Amino acid sequence: MKKLVLGTIAAAMVATSGLAAEYTLKFSHVVSPNTPKGKAADFFEKRLEELSGGKIDVQVYPSSQLYTDGAVVKALRLNSVQMAAPSFSKFGKIVPQLALFDMPFIFKDIDHLHRVQDGEVGTALKDMVTAKGIVALDFWDNGFKQFSSSKQALINPSDAEGQKFRIMSSKVLEAQIKAVGGNPQMMPFSEVYSGLQQGVIDAAENPFSNIYTKKFHEVQKYLTVSDHGYLGYLVVMSKKFWNSLPADLQANVKQAMKEATEKEREYAKELNDTQFKAIQEYAQKTGKLEIYTLTDEQREAWRKAVSKIYPEFYSDRLIGKDLIEKTIATK
Ligand code: LMR
Repeated sequence: MKKLVLGTIAAAMVATSGLAAEYTLKFSHVVSPNTPKGKAADFFEKRLEELSGGKIDVQVYPSSQLYTDGAVVKALRLNSVQMAAPSFSKFGKIVPQLALFDMPFIFKDIDHLHRVQDGEVGTALKDMVTAKGIVALDFWDNGFKQFSSSKQALINPSDAEGQKFRIMSSKVLEAQIKAVGGNPQMMPFSEVYSGLQQGVIDAAENPFSNIYTKKFHEVQKYLTVSDHGYLGYLVVMSKKFWNSLPADLQANVKQAMKEATEKEREYAKELNDTQFKAIQEYAQKTGKLEIYTLTDEQREAWRKAVSKIYPEFYSDRLIGKDLIEKTIATK
């Protein structure tokens, strides 16, 4: 606590004395500030500035202001941006194995997911990212994804037939939608709202937080609580920037990151609940959105229909049988 107060005073002194920070860290992301990732990025900014006594100036750019999700990994490798927290599919070109997290119905619940991230599988995946010259810091949650549509409610797998689904650029998600006869359309996150509004796409899959903060529910007629897949992030830093920091500032980054990750999991849980409630209130008030929750039977039908894609990703050049089986077996 004492350290925290001293750090805050030091940061404030630097700010008021007009001394320039020694390092500028730009943190780019694509979602709204009021999301688990947005809030944790803001927490990290404040905390690292405190811990470093103002030596590191953290600048957070939300809502694709600096880079769209497709471009950020490349920008990070060039040190044009120093930090990002892209969802796993955005690493497709360099570490396709991270698409493990896109696998539908592979995680029993959020605790199982955290055990995978915090264990052997998570470490192996981070090592693969490190080997590509990027500093892999931590995994952050958004939450489980829900289907939405403006064409037909997605209750049984056959309801997906012929619908155009926006997906992230991920081979796994492409296979998932094809497995139920849907038509997958890869599209950057920043274009989803207008894509849904203009009918370029009929359907989407997003966690409640992204649906609510980007108002996707206002341009869809049906929302299905399906929890069929997970959306999360790997927080990464430019190696050039990391290497430029002296040991004490690297320790500050690690500490701020540790605290931000703990907070992030709390934000994700909390926002998932409150933002779902807000969507339910909107549905009740306007009558413009129908919300369904899959029964166990319906969920099982979806699980059967989409989990048959797993063997397509057994090759080590894609995800690998070993990683898939270890994930399923993680206790
Ligand atoms: C998406 O493209 O849907 C996500 O990656 C957005 C995000 O970062 O949550």
